[in-house]
Amino acid sequence: MKTWQGRIETAADRRFERFTSSIEQDRRLAPYDVIASRAHAKALAGAGVISTADAERLDLALQQVGVEIASGHLVWRDELEDVHTHVESRLRELTGELADSLHAGRSRNDQVAADLRLYTRDRIDEAMASILSLQSSLLDLARRYRNDIMPGYTHLQQAQPLSIAQPLLAHVSMLGRDWERFEEARTRANRSPLGSGALAGAAFPLNRDLLASSCGFSGPIANSLDAVSDRDFLVEFVFAAALCMTHLSRLAEDLILWSSTELGFVRLPDAFASGSSMMPQKKNPDVAELIRGKAALVLGDVTAALALVKGIPMGYNRDLQEDKTPLYHAADTLIPSLEILAAMLPEIEFDTERTERAVSSFALATDLADHLVRNGVPFRDAHAVVGGLVSDCLARGKDLTGLTPEELRAASRHFAEIPEMTPRASIRRKQTSGSTSPESIEQQLKEMDSMVEERRKESRS
Ligand code: ARG
Repeated sequence: MKTWQGRIETAADRRFERFTSSIEQDRRLAPYDVIASRAHAKALAGAGVISTADAERLDLALQQVGVEIASGHLVWRDELEDVHTHVESRLRELTGELADSLHAGRSRNDQVAADLRLYTRDRIDEAMASILSLQSSLLDLARRYRNDIMPGYTHLQQAQPLSIAQPLLAHVSMLGRDWERFEEARTRANRSPLGSGALAGAAFPLNRDLLASSCGFSGPIANSLDAVSDRDFLVEFVFAAALCMTHLSRLAEDLILWSSTELGFVRLPDAFASGSSMMPQKKNPDVAELIRGKAALVLGDVTAALALVKGIPMGYNRDLQEDKTPLYHAADTLIPSLEILAAMLPEIEFDTERTERAVSSFALATDLADHLVRNGVPFRDAHAVVGGLVSDCLARGKDLTGLTPEELRAASRHFAEIPEMTPRASIRRKQTSGSTSPESIEQQLKEMDSMVEERRKESRS
């Protein structure tokens, strides 16, 4: 018997059942459906629709359904259409006719919205915890290599020397914003649609504050129609996941470049790399490449989620059943990607001799110009002088650091004394907060460490 069998006279075509069934996607929502149903039973008793004793019987039976779901004992049947009818049908087996009273004042529309919000809230918590783990791995790596040098790039051309910690801490910062985005998304997901019925609200005095707090929601959604049709929380989750995947993809790209034969800046751990079936010398950065690839699919999830809601008329529409595909896919891609990077990064080794040797003498050109500025030359003029020296060196196949004091003074009398022309000296000369100077790196490490620690504590409490 279908929940709507009164109105539809003939039995459903099997093809219709299969086409419209959402059981495959709904399974994951089952534990949440039980939570929301228990809240509803309590609210029905509070509103005097059922007796307290009946509410208690329903609650006990729902708890049992919850146990059966958790242990994998609930039998899933296609013809039961969705998770809500599954829970209710099992409830009927357990409590008989009493189960039929549970649906007063509610609809699958507010149910599915509640289930999805509870599910999203849990996945957000997982994503946030995984972000913190990855940040810890990056911070450990940054601490380990904070006194080592590598070239920094703009336009993928050598620009200025950096502490190896600087790009690693840049990735920590990006992930910090992801964490904040998920936290904000969580606030908006954590509102209760319960008590909204199909669209217009319920004709019983259901206590919506109680319905909300029973599920751990921060409060009820103001408008019943918005409550059943809103999927912003889902779109926001998918977007936050896509941006975070984009960040992971950039980190992956750095690892791929750094581990290339030509650069050879990092050695990826053997346990996280594969070889080639044909070329015996190969070691491939598979994890990083897959993350770069998977990020593309999560970007697609954002498009799917937005396109799904952009044209639906106000109210619940069956299109929304498709919303689980991008939601699950985004979560199932992001969380394992964060986890595997957190596991792999501590095993990575930088070849610090090679990274330091890779810094070209020309990466110190700005240092020469800055030196002239300190001796009173306007920066544009200093830039022109050093630019001339660079062209000269390039024409003669010489290093910028190979110029003699006389050659420098011939270019500008302001080279009275010569600055120390090493990558380390360049890094030490940086004076701003957030820079790659040793003091700034220590400061960044300290601040980012305590931020991660605080956020860890916050999520535990
Ligand atoms: N399976 C549906 C979904 O996922 C549940 C809500 C169905 N509501 C309805 N009136 N058919 O969106």
